[in-house]
This record gives sequence, C-alpha cells and structure tokens, in this order.
Amino acid sequence: MKNQLDFIADRLEKHIAETKKITATPNKGITRLPFTLESKRCVHYLEEQMKQLGMTVSEDASGAVIGVIQGKSEERIMIGSHYDSVEHGGAYDGMAGILCGIEIAAYYIRNNIIPPYTLEIAGLNDEEGARFGGGYLSSKAFLGKWSTNDLKQYVDKNGLSYYDAMKLYGLEPEHMIRAQRPLSKWKGYLEIHVEQGPILENAKKEIGIVETIVAIKRYYITIVGKADHAGTQPMNTRSDAVMAAMGLIHHMNEYVLSHKPMVGTVGEIHVYPNEINIVPEEITFSIDVRSSKEEWLEECIELVEEDLKELEGIGFKCKMKPTLTNTVTHMKTEWKKVLKESADSLGFSNMFLDSGAGHDAAIIGKAVDTAMLFVPSVGGRSHIPEEYSSEKDLAKAVLVAIDFINKID
Ligand code: GLV
Ligand code: MN
Ligand code: MN
Repeated sequence: MKNQLDFIADRLEKHIAETKKITATPNKGITRLPFTLESKRCVHYLEEQMKQLGMTVSEDASGAVIGVIQGKSEERIMIGSHYDSVEHGGAYDGMAGILCGIEIAAYYIRNNIIPPYTLEIAGLNDEEGARFGGGYLSSKAFLGKWSTNDLKQYVDKNGLSYYDAMKLYGLEPEHMIRAQRPLSKWKGYLEIHVEQGPILENAKKEIGIVETIVAIKRYYITIVGKADHAGTQPMNTRSDAVMAAMGLIHHMNEYVLSHKPMVGTVGEIHVYPNEINIVPEEITFSIDVRSSKEEWLEECIELVEEDLKELEGIGFKCKMKPTLTNTVTHMKTEWKKVLKESADSLGFSNMFLDSGAGHDAAIIGKAVDTAMLFVPSVGGRSHIPEEYSSEKDLAKAVLVAIDFINKID
C-alpha cells in the first residue's frame, strides 16, 4: 500500500493547487464564503472530480456536494469535511478533508476494489459560520435541525439571511428538510482534517487520532450608549459603548485565563459611528468561548450576562444573541483503536489528541458513530493564508482511512 503514497500525494497537490485558486481574495488567502460565486465554483470543481471517477454525484438542499461509490454493503460511511472558509483563511482547512475523501474513493476505483461499505464523499457547506455567524449548515441539515424560521434568524453583514442567500444562490430554503439523512442506513462518519494547532508537530507525529471535540458557545452582543462630542463631553456624563464593552471583555478574558483548558475570543467588532472624534454610540461584537468543561462555558456566559445587566442598570441598552452551542463530542472508542492499529500497521507515528477547533464531526458525531484523523499543521497555524500541511502527510491519512474502512465491522 505504501507505494501508493507518492501517487496520492501528487494528486492531492494538484487538487490543492486548483482549489487554492477559488477565492474572493486572490493573494490574500482563501475567502470562500457560503452561497457566493466562489462556493459555486468550488462545488463545480468537486463535482467534476467525482464524476471523472465515475461516482454518482448530487447536491443537497444545504448546498453540500455528495459523491457515492457503491460498496459490498448498502451500509454507508460518509467521509467529508467543508468547502467554505473563513475570510483570508488557508487552503487546507476543510478542503483537505474533502480531497482526501475523493482520493479514498479514487483508490478503490483505480484498483478495481469494491469497498466493504458504500462510501459517500461529502463536500459540506458553511461549517465555519464566517458569513452568518452560525455555521455547521450542512451537518445540521443532515440531522434535520434547520427550520425555515431558523434560516431567517441568521444574517450577514449586509442584512441578508441564510434564507435570502440560499434563494439568491438557487436553493430552496423552505425545503431544507430534504437534506435530512436516514441515519439507520449509516455505518458512520469519518473526517480527515488538518490539526490547526501545534501538538502533532511538536510531538513529531505523522497522524493524530481525535478523542474529543471541544464544546463551543458563540454570541453576538450589542451595547448601545450615547454618541457625543469627543472633546467637550466630560468623562463622567458619557455613555461610551466601547468603554462599556471593554470592561465586559476584560472580565471574560480574566475568567478564561484562570481556567485551563479554556479559550475565549472576541474576533469581530463593529462600532457605530466609528469616528475619531465621536464618543461611540453602539458596539456589536462576537464572543466565542471553548472548553472541554461545559460548566465553565456556562459560568463564563453567566458572568457576561451579569455585566450586561449592570450596564442596563446605568442606562445602556444591551442585546445578547446566541448563535452556536456545541457540547463536547466523543469519537467512537472502538474506531479510535482501529485507527491506531491502521496507523501502526502502516508504520506511521501517531498519537491521540483532542480537538480545540470545531468540525462537522462535532455535529454528526452526536447522531452516528464518528472518527476523525488529524494531519500535522506546519507551525501549528491555521485560519491564516500561510496555513500549510504537507500533501504527503495528507496522503498518509488517506492510507490510514482506507485500512480503517477495510478493517471495521
Ligand atoms: C472552525 O474552524 C472553528 O473551530 O471555529
Ligand atoms: Mn476553520
Ligand atoms: Mn475546518
């Protein structure tokens, strides 16, 4: 099997070179937001690759692209990841997993081997939530979790909702339920992903076998105060929305720093009127907190809510909009062992680790047996244009996955 490694790495390199071109921000990283021209071009590329291999290809109601290769059993294993990206992100996050899935299918087809299970290779839409703040669109759609009303609640920076954007894109949000999967037919879900952190690189391991995926809570918070002249309004009579937010963010940061493992991020901020000499009237910002200890997330958010109440007490108007709650997801114990056996038997150094990033596997893994493989990220960096994992390492994950599929019963 090992002589396949270079061949697969070479194909992956070509795929990455092509998909790298599909970005709204050339030379400034990958920006492939859901329901945009870039999404459409990317879906087209994936469909073409799947069709060339002779797979049966379809697009579902959420915009996921799915290629099927018939196995000896009707039971299905889905191998997927996401084709959307953050703004100015990297070429490997999500995309590498889909391309590895295509190469798993290609391996069976090229070698005239019928896989033991029917394989669905899936390019999923909007895992990141970069445009609408939510995310996990396709994976939640598989579980029938989107109502038409939900799709109207999430809006982008221009005020377009999922519902509006889907219509403009040519999908039918009223029929999102059609993306729901009959879970009884599923053997399970497998996702290959770049690690996005430094653990594998530091430990000098070629393969990571994921144990759990972290819990996440996300919100948008809006604080409205009062605009005033920046030179004449005394400090004690101001209702400065930015200063108010700063206090809250500082409290949140202190909480996060005093709990380990825990991370907290305020990655998106909008200020109105955003002028150098006007006391800010309004601020809207995101909060993303993560930990394997769900109770810490609850406690941290309670603290934020208390701060907002206090601000309301002194005249500010506050709003807190939840956009995501993921609880911890555990990968299937038996499958972790099989993945380790596969990696060992192929001679690839490996270790178990937890994921601090969210993945479609976190949603699907709540409903069906799920496993995840990580590939080292150079410099442990991701969600940046420089993100890089070697195609050879990705090809190793492909070979481990094939061995795993052949081994599980
Ligand atoms: C997705 O990459 C996330 O973890 O936010
Ligand atoms: Mn990501
Ligand atoms: Mn990802």
